[in-house]
Amino acid sequence: MKDPIRVAVTGGAGQIAYSLLFRIGNGEVFGPEQPVILQILEIPQAMDALKGVVMELQDSAQPLVHDIIATDDANVAFKDANWAILVGGKPRGPGMVRADLIAANGPIFLDQGKAINDNAADDIRVVVVANPCNSNCLVAASNAPDVPKDRWFAMTRLDENRARAQVADKAGVLSTEVTNVGIWGNHSASQFPNFEEIKVGGKPATEVIDDRGWFEGDFLTTVQDRGKAIIDARGKSSAASAANAALDTIRSLITPTAEGDWFSAAVYSDGNPYGIADGIFYSFPLRSTGNGDWEIVEGLELSDYAKEKAAATQDELLKEREAITDLL
Ligand code: NAI
Repeated sequence: MKDPIRVAVTGGAGQIAYSLLFRIGNGEVFGPEQPVILQILEIPQAMDALKGVVMELQDSAQPLVHDIIATDDANVAFKDANWAILVGGKPRGPGMVRADLIAANGPIFLDQGKAINDNAADDIRVVVVANPCNSNCLVAASNAPDVPKDRWFAMTRLDENRARAQVADKAGVLSTEVTNVGIWGNHSASQFPNFEEIKVGGKPATEVIDDRGWFEGDFLTTVQDRGKAIIDARGKSSAASAANAALDTIRSLITPTAEGDWFSAAVYSDGNPYGIADGIFYSFPLRSTGNGDWEIVEGLELSDYAKEKAAATQDELLKEREAITDLL
């Protein structure tokens, strides 16, 4: 058996972690031969609740879980971590606008970025789930100067999976038939799931579903507003599907991407091929070699429509950045 890897998860007493931690322990992401040490961070007020989660993890007796560390100290949680999944954060309260949410979460991610910088293993990779995930990721990465920027990812995989499911349903095929789903930009209502590139069974989705009005209308709004629709239906925000998307993100990063396909995550834009502004975490279609290297898919011909959408979500991210310049 291999040596265990250390996986830090923040927000361990929350909804998403309640699914995520157990699935990591099952070997669903790192494989059935890879033991893990779970290093779970919470705020002091939630440590009792976290104790309960840890008891349940213990009671699952998962063979791959070699140790569980529960702490309210970020320096302990990120100590020698090989992966960090940042799920914990301040939720949007009543009357809060997006800028308030960004400002409320900024200091958390500043501190966690520093703690990652000072404590994590040399090969640390970080996936930021907590919203506003693109800007939280920017704050954390900016405060971890020793960790290369290409090790940081903000999660747009749930949007990708939502888009895939919508297209599969409309085309009447299994979701595995739907490939080349790329989310562009921010994990927010401004995101652009670029349907012009999606394929169904290898053919352009826009040919298989010959209804441009559906793509520009219901498809886009369903994907963009899905988070709110789930809150309206369930009374709570998406959790199991968000945990699933976090695992998919990591799996895509550690597995070679299938020939011709791609997956989505927000990465640090730095001289990207599509002229998107530098210095923001922007979601692009990515390909991975499977050994930690990834690249933005090059050579896609964006239509004027797609360019306009890609620019609009970029502009929103630039505005979000203005709210946190003092934290960068
Ligand atoms: P939750 O409210 O159930 O759990 C969040 C947990 O984080 C709480 O237990 C809280 O005590 C903890 N926490 C707060 N500040 C912390 C800190 N400084 N350090 C460590 N832990 C801290 O929320 P849930 O449903 O688990 O969602 C977590 C985050 O994920 C939210 O920000 C949510 O908006 C985001 N999310 C992102 C998605 C995406 O696609 N990127 C999809 C769904 C949710």
